[in-house]
Amino acid sequence: MIRGTVRAFSSKTIPEITRVGMVGLGLMGHGIAQTAAMAGYDVVAVDMTQKSLDAGLARIEGSLNKLHARHVKKGDWTTDKAKDEFAAVMGRIHGSVTNKDLADCDLVIEAIVENVDIKKVFYKELGGIVKPSGILASNTSSLSIGDFAGSSGRPSQVVGLHFFNPVQLMKLVEVVETSQTDPKVFDISKRWAASLGKTPVSCKDTPGFIVNRLLVPNLAQALFLMERGDASMEDIDISMQLGAGHPMGPITLADYVGLDTTLSILEGWVKKYPNEPIFAVPESLRQKVKEGKLGRKTGEGYYKWD
Ligand code: CAA
Ligand code: NAD
Repeated sequence: MIRGTVRAFSSKTIPEITRVGMVGLGLMGHGIAQTAAMAGYDVVAVDMTQKSLDAGLARIEGSLNKLHARHVKKGDWTTDKAKDEFAAVMGRIHGSVTNKDLADCDLVIEAIVENVDIKKVFYKELGGIVKPSGILASNTSSLSIGDFAGSSGRPSQVVGLHFFNPVQLMKLVEVVETSQTDPKVFDISKRWAASLGKTPVSCKDTPGFIVNRLLVPNLAQALFLMERGDASMEDIDISMQLGAGHPMGPITLADYVGLDTTLSILEGWVKKYPNEPIFAVPESLRQKVKEGKLGRKTGEGYYKWD
């Protein structure tokens, strides 16, 4: 049970949302929970085991320390102010290993494993737990939200809220409506995303929404270019940084996103949309994942990471 929650107050928060649930505290979920708490929301943060919950909370602490150290270094904050902010943000995050603690949430965001069957089971359970007015939002990268929204028993309350890695720094949130999303729910979701200091954009429930539809095939094309021996991975990356102004080259970015995630997005699309030629899987990507070289998170992908 979640006890002793203090009502969050911040000029940034929107009145319709007080308590936010975050399920899955991995790469994305820890960043979303942190960002919501930093904006002044009470957050119920759920993961499957105490170990994965603790790992997610530790990640939040590490990121907060980095962000706060920057304020202190710039002279905006004293170290006492940084300590107070740290305590205030962490005090708004209530860890749990049971979905039952989400009952009272006004908005629950899901960032669990990218598997439609697992999401269906999860949304069925969530629909039975969260109060009827609660909005359910998925952070899925590549699945059709309409494929699992119905399992919740309240598809009009389901939207996509697609954040970008690293959540703490990336300013965009894609807000996705299915054919069944209630316009009021969509409007609240957009205003909530804006209240985090992000820029929300609207999109229909189309494969990859806006960013991944354009980005992931681009990462794949970079790998095909390399596999054909037309250019080295280093030269491909430097080219897109210096010639196209991207902050990271595409092969570095594939490592950063995670090669398993990139592969599963592409494989899912190839299977579901076999006639769409921009969805194709580079062989080297399959090979890297087979070898357990998943990119930054495992210390090695196409590159070695410290
Ligand atoms: N929390 C807190 N601080 C962080 C942080 C985090 N998670 N990550 C980085 N920082 C800090 C660093 O410590 C550093 O702080 P100092 O300046 O005090 O040293 C600062 O932020 C800047 O970081 P970096 O020095 O590493 O470098 P950078 O300026 O290159 O910025 C970046 C990093 C924002 C990640 C930038 O390289 C970038 O924009 N890369 C592209 C990321 C991208 O495209 N993301 C989308 C992926 S696709 C996706 O997410 C969707 C999907 O569904 C797959
Ligand atoms: P991750 O593997 O880092 O984290 C997933 C977390 O969810 C883990 O902590 C795991 O223990 C937990 N989890 C799994 N099943 C659960 C369940 N039934 N109940 C509670 N917790 C559960 O994954 P991630 O990269 O953060 O991706 C999560 C979601 O976000 C996916 O839908 C993915 O497509 C999407 N996404 C990923 C990225 C990215 O760059 N990796 C970007 C945007 C969106």
